[in-house]
Amino acid sequence: MRLSQGQVAVVTGAASGIGLAMARRFAAEGLKVVLADVEKAALHKAADQLAQDGARVFAQTVDVGDRDSVSELADAAYETFGAVHVLCNNAGVGSGAEGRMWEHEPNDWKWAFAVNVWGVFHGIQAFVPHMIASGEPGHVVNTSSGDGGIAPLPTASVYAVTKAAVVTMTESLYAHLKAEHARVGASVLFPGPHMLRTGLWESHRNRPERYAKERPRRTPYRSLDQWQAAMKDAGHEVAFTPVEEVAAFVVDGIRAGRFWLLPASEHSDRQIRARAQSMLDRANPSYLEKFILD
Ligand SMILES: NC(=O)c1ccc[n+]([C@@H]2O[C@H](COP(=O)([O-])OP(=O)(O)OC[C@H]3O[C@@H](n4cnc5c(N)ncnc54)[C@H](O)[C@@H]3O)[C@@H](O)[C@H]2O)c1
Repeated sequence: MRLSQGQVAVVTGAASGIGLAMARRFAAEGLKVVLADVEKAALHKAADQLAQDGARVFAQTVDVGDRDSVSELADAAYETFGAVHVLCNNAGVGSGAEGRMWEHEPNDWKWAFAVNVWGVFHGIQAFVPHMIASGEPGHVVNTSSGDGGIAPLPTASVYAVTKAAVVTMTESLYAHLKAEHARVGASVLFPGPHMLRTGLWESHRNRPERYAKERPRRTPYRSLDQWQAAMKDAGHEVAFTPVEEVAAFVVDGIRAGRFWLLPASEHSDRQIRARAQSMLDRANPSYLEKFILD
């Protein structure tokens, strides 16, 4: 679709990381931006900064796992700006689950599903009918991950399951929009090609009481810096992709009407081939076994 001055973009998870970078980029393209996030102080700081830089901004505290909260966001967005052209269902969390799947706490699954899966569905339900009815061009970008979106990292399996769901949900959305001859497109985003220096490793900062852990963690949460240092000690230098690069990639992808917002990466391509080949060969998923040895 054509992105032009005066259009409106809604971004969830906009107070930090990739969401904030996308909001900044949309604003730089002349779009009005609706920032939604559960972390109130960070959200208002981000909105104030964008407004100071000259953007037209509206910010609302939202829990994407709560259907009513997302409906209220849609009402407020339409009331404030009268239209929505781009919707980025981007809010996401790491689950904090430890150990093997049979040892996970149900609340780890419930929380990650509430934000990463239900959050995307709530966004689609609250906004897409209005976007279609407006008759104006529009686009939905749902944030998945290579972890699960391509193949699971079994050490982060809850997250992987949610991100696999985001791919399937977006493929289904794409088909439904086509069947409807809607002027609204859909894309699934795999941020990368490398890791991103964002708040994702501190997702537990936003974990709500209703999904609280029921027992103490066996090991403390590891920060991104601690993980990077451990990787370095093991001889691996971790590469990072700047969030601004992801945001620029999203904007280009929307303009080009690209469904797979999957940056070029030999690593991703190897994973895709290995998984597809295992299915085509009806062979067991040996590409996962290296993770099972830990
Ligand atoms: N960081 C990475 O390496 C990476 C890789 C692939 C995919 N992703 C995905 O990118 C997206 C953005 O994450 P990020 O890396 O920028 O992390 P981040 O923690 O910096 O940003 C996520 C934002 O979502 C918000 N959020 C959390 N729960 C919410 C809820 N219930 N309702 C509304 N907002 C909520 C957080 O407050 C935060 O501002 C996520 O979907 C994540 O899974 C990240």
